[in-house]
Amino acid sequence: MSNRYAVILAAGQGTRMKSKLYKVLHPVCGKPMVQHVVDQVRKLDIEEIVTIIGHGAEKVQAQLGELSHYALQEEQLGTAHAVMQSQSMLEGKEGVTLVVCGDTPLIKAGTIESLFKHHEETKAKATILTASIGNPAGYGRIVRNESGLVEKIVEHKDASDEERKINEINTGTYCFDNIALFEALKNVSNENVQGEYYLPDVIEILKKQGEVVTAYQTEDLDETLGVNDRVALAEAERLMRARINENHMRNGVTIIDPSNTYIEADIEIGQDTVIYPGTMIKGTTVIGDDCQIGPNTEIVACQIGSGTTVRQSVAHQSEIGSRVNIGPFAHIRPDSSILDEVKIGNFVEIKKAVFGQGSKASHLSYIGDAEVGSNVNIGCGSITVNYDGKNKYKTKIEDDVFIGCNSNLVAPVTVGQGAYVAAGSTITKDVPGKALSIARARQVNKENYAEKLNGKK
Ligand code: UD1
Ligand code: MG
Repeated sequence: MSNRYAVILAAGQGTRMKSKLYKVLHPVCGKPMVQHVVDQVRKLDIEEIVTIIGHGAEKVQAQLGELSHYALQEEQLGTAHAVMQSQSMLEGKEGVTLVVCGDTPLIKAGTIESLFKHHEETKAKATILTASIGNPAGYGRIVRNESGLVEKIVEHKDASDEERKINEINTGTYCFDNIALFEALKNVSNENVQGEYYLPDVIEILKKQGEVVTAYQTEDLDETLGVNDRVALAEAERLMRARINENHMRNGVTIIDPSNTYIEADIEIGQDTVIYPGTMIKGTTVIGDDCQIGPNTEIVACQIGSGTTVRQSVAHQSEIGSRVNIGPFAHIRPDSSILDEVKIGNFVEIKKAVFGQGSKASHLSYIGDAEVGSNVNIGCGSITVNYDGKNKYKTKIEDDVFIGCNSNLVAPVTVGQGAYVAAGSTITKDVPGKALSIARARQVNKENYAEKLNGKK
């Protein structure tokens, strides 16, 4: 039992975002802001996490699922009112409560842990995570007395010109003695410019009661960013992207140009893989060791083995094995399974297809709804004709088949093991194993016919 609790504030609409999507659900590097916050909080030893939900309550709850308990704030009357909604779950418990905003996606578990430690060491009733920043506009300012002790927090909108000059800001993350917090919350009023119940007012209330109130300043200014509008969202994305890329590089991944490489949160990449510029790696992608990815490549929710190259290509929701060679300019569409040592060359589109080990489609093909065995060679320009305008049908190409250039395989159809299909064929019937199938008009050469044609002129 850690006697530590956490309240995550996520009920606001986020008016300044001007969005249909609730603020805390806006993604930063592919992951909703509130999920970033919860993931960091969950790294700490915390007994109970309560997320305050209101606007978009169901969607926030659906996003976080079992990771948190929930308290509903029906009307958004301010951050103090929001914390108050966790009263029935937390009031009366001995211990320390962390309050953190769902719109500060860059906050790190390590910093929160230091905040807890500082709070415990100073035996404070409240400890604010603060930062000194160049442009403090919009944030609550930390007002200290002559001895340098924290007096109160003044919101930007309520601050005097003098107070607005203060550079030390409230990051919106705090530790409170839980009993003292709920006592003080009862005394917060809404007499301020915004007519809201401000959580920061708890600081002044405790201070006036003679309690110890401290501040812990973080050096990592990135962490302090509270996202209230799209400009800050883009800034959060940039900072998070740099952090993600740095982690991969520290883990042994080469990123040629980190400022031009877009890797979403929670993606795994193995050692000695090289990522070239203009590459986006998204979703639940896992990439093995020694791969070459990019340049200008988009990979979404793919599992990629080791030693694979994907150049200037797009791959979605597919499994790609080891020592596979993809691109340039290939498109791997969802539900494809590409086994080891396959080659998918330029202008090849694969959809919902299995490609057996060592098979090749080197140029200009469409292979959809297909099962391709191993060591198959699909010649340039070949197509699985999978759609009759109403339904989709499957093509089966067994092991060791050779499909000549520019062939149409009209599904449903099977080409048996070891068979050959002659170039230019339109295959409408199954081809038995080891057969040669020729399905095209026989060539006729009419000797000296040109003279006849020329004579017509
Ligand atoms: C808040 C702080 C400010 C601090 C800044 C840091 C207050 C009054 N001000 O300002 O001192 O510098 O964060 O980023 O707390 N929320 C609710 N219910 C409400 C209102 C807000 O759950 O009734 C949630 C929001 O969804 C958001 C968080 O609380 O996740 C903070 O609210 P926001 O409106 O963004 O406060 P700021 O103006 O950023
Ligand atoms: Mg905010």
